[in-house]
Amino acid sequence: MSEPFYITTAIDYLNGQPHLGHAYEKVVTDVIARSRRSLGQQVFFLTGLDEHGQKVQQAAVAEGKSPQDYCDALAVAWKGLATKLNLSNDDFIRTTEPRHKQVVQAVLAKLHAQGEFRVGTYEGWYSPKEETFLTAKDRLPDGNFPSSYGEVITLLESNYFFPLKPYQAWLIDHIESNPDFIRPAYRRNEVLGFLRSETLEDLCISRPKARLAWGIPLPFDPEYVTYVWFDALTNYVTVPASMGDAGAAGPLGLPVRPEVPPLWPAVHVIGKDILKFHTVYWPIMLKAAGLAVPRQVLVHGWWQKDGQKLSKTTGNVVDPVAVVDDWGVDAFRYYVTRELDLGPDGNWTDAGFAARYQAELANGLGNLVNRSLKMLKSYRAGKVPARSDALAADATKAAEAVKAAYAAFELQGALIAAWELVNRANKYVEETAPFKMAKDPTQAGRLDEVLYSLVEACRILAVLLWPVIPETAGKIYTQLGLAGAPDRLESTSWGGMVAGSEVGEPQPLFPRREPAAKDGNACKTA
Ligand code: ME8
Ligand code: MG
Repeated sequence: MSEPFYITTAIDYLNGQPHLGHAYEKVVTDVIARSRRSLGQQVFFLTGLDEHGQKVQQAAVAEGKSPQDYCDALAVAWKGLATKLNLSNDDFIRTTEPRHKQVVQAVLAKLHAQGEFRVGTYEGWYSPKEETFLTAKDRLPDGNFPSSYGEVITLLESNYFFPLKPYQAWLIDHIESNPDFIRPAYRRNEVLGFLRSETLEDLCISRPKARLAWGIPLPFDPEYVTYVWFDALTNYVTVPASMGDAGAAGPLGLPVRPEVPPLWPAVHVIGKDILKFHTVYWPIMLKAAGLAVPRQVLVHGWWQKDGQKLSKTTGNVVDPVAVVDDWGVDAFRYYVTRELDLGPDGNWTDAGFAARYQAELANGLGNLVNRSLKMLKSYRAGKVPARSDALAADATKAAEAVKAAYAAFELQGALIAAWELVNRANKYVEETAPFKMAKDPTQAGRLDEVLYSLVEACRILAVLLWPVIPETAGKIYTQLGLAGAPDRLESTSWGGMVAGSEVGEPQPLFPRREPAAKDGNACKTA
């Protein structure tokens, strides 16, 4: 665990407002980043925005703004989302920044000098919406292109192409000999299946400025800008390269600063729709440029709401900011991490969200912490009794399982394991009935044991849950009268609460909420 751990999210297109899918990806990446830090590893976490290309240019035009003004205004909302979600990112990249232009041009110049590109003419179908060239294979049986491509036009233009075929055998071998490179395994198989059955076509890496001006100019031909995906993928190298990380800056001929920790290569967290870009184009770009390929690509599924695609047009959306404002950031972070494992698709329902909030957060964790502290306050004036090991075995078992799950990026599994302890401790309260013991002086020693066991279980839970619900974990620590942050997973050994120390004030962590009324009139009296 001594090597630095560099992790990234996809960078979002700046052509609208953030939705549940964007927020989900950021939260799970943050949970991984925080859990690695808590496990003792040095972490660098990068997220950011994809600001060039046709989609963004079109969105700017629709608002009557210059692309840069449009991006600068909207970037504020997206940076605000990162704060709202309590992300622990170390940097935030915007692809319109000078540092990014410099690195993209360095990659392009190097590949051009090596003779990797050829000039060719493209004649055929093109989707401006997806910025992609289409072939007959992309057509539906009825002859039309899928509606996701938007309006499909025909184009005839000259461009720069990057032949990928020379790297195909190498890439297949790399994926075969590194079983963990793409996760989950069914995504890996999907990529391998594609690579084994189809010959890679030359990737068009330019767009004529006359058609699309909003991009990074090719360093060797000012009549062209860089294809937005070539530009966007490079963001992952931009940050370490401009910091002077040897593994990123060195091969590109940029200044190396020996004091910078070795960051590149990264672990990428992405959605299933951009798998090919990250596991075919990107590794080949890196290989050709003499850079190491990504350490790993973790591919998550897509969220729907009420069984339907998220869509602005139909209004089937979940606004993550509104949910956070209404329920709190940790309720949102908890729900998305607990509900959806990294890989499959998920379905958001407001009822499902409210149900988990009530059962698992309010009545589960929140109730445990609140009643444990309240009992300690009223029966022992808030003073921690002598150590008892009644729940030690349960806590140790949960802690080992949670740590192993974090280490394997099984975030849902980590929460399931932690809730074994939440439920066990709540059951222990029911079984031992401390409120009865408090009335019987002969039970004083037994009550001390119960009270110690409960607050110690709460302390351990704060540490175990900090990566997912850092704000709440911090509150638990404060209420327990502990200083510092619960951000060291090594501190989950039983016995951390010190006898004689005093706890703070109990405050509800997740206030219980009335079930939502079925319709607006439900509360009206007849
Ligand atoms: O693709 N559920 O940007 P983007 C879960 N700029 N995840 C979702 C989702 C959903 N319903 N909808 C989108 C781009 N995402 C490029 C990336 S990276 C060098 C360039 C995820 O704004 C999606 O899978 O369309 C992707 O990982 C991320 O949100 C950004 O999508
Ligand atoms: Mg997209």
